[in-house]
Amino acid sequence: MKRLFLLLLLTTVVCMGLAGCKEKAAKPASDTGKIRPYSAKDFSYLLGTPGFSDNALKLHFALYEGYVKNTNLLLTKMEEMVRQGKSQSSEFSELKRRFGFEFNGMRLHEYYFSSLGGNGIPDKESDLYKAIVASFGSFENWQKDFVDTAMSRGVGWTVLYYDEIQNRLMNVWINEHHVGHPAGCRVILPLDVFEHAFLVDYGLDKKAYIEAFLKALNWKVLEERFRGQPFPERPAEVTEKSGQEA
Ligand SMILES: [Fe+2]
Repeated sequence: MKRLFLLLLLTTVVCMGLAGCKEKAAKPASDTGKIRPYSAKDFSYLLGTPGFSDNALKLHFALYEGYVKNTNLLLTKMEEMVRQGKSQSSEFSELKRRFGFEFNGMRLHEYYFSSLGGNGIPDKESDLYKAIVASFGSFENWQKDFVDTAMSRGVGWTVLYYDEIQNRLMNVWINEHHVGHPAGCRVILPLDVFEHAFLVDYGLDKKAYIEAFLKALNWKVLEERFRGQPFPERPAEVTEKSGQEA
């Protein structure tokens, strides 16, 4: 009897706990009063990165900050329109269409900048390296496909994605900032191939810019992303023995 009582008590406590969690999860974010505007991350630690002039980086940081600003402006404007009962207007629809451009412009630059600052040498024993080999046949095959994708004519991004559902990596071309993202896949490595990313330092030599980008990658960050951590704390300093020859 005593055992039955304890079992009932335990079941009640667990159920109450689960109900509490459910209530917490179901509460709209807007009711929490904790929604803050997006703020620009500081990537000034990248100044001095080999292959990237400080001038080019500073201009690029300023462009990125523009996307953060416009993402916040769009969100504020759309919320205002909803409050004013204007959410069925053509202007509201246009703002909704524009949102993917500004938001992805912000977020992709954050992934891009935080991929840099390393020595470009991957760890052959890492899970990411092994997954690249499993998906592409070899690391060299992946890199060739990544570069060839990035050399496509047009402005946008080449992104190494991880499709967790199929357990495979793939290189995808993204038009501008927002067209062509594979749903539900995880960004591992984005390469900005808008002209602003390379004209300052390399003129029209996009290939030379891509090579400089690959040499400046911090593979420790990419490995963390593959493990599910999109923005690890400030990347560890890359030491002489942090990687192996690719
Ligand atoms: Fe850019």
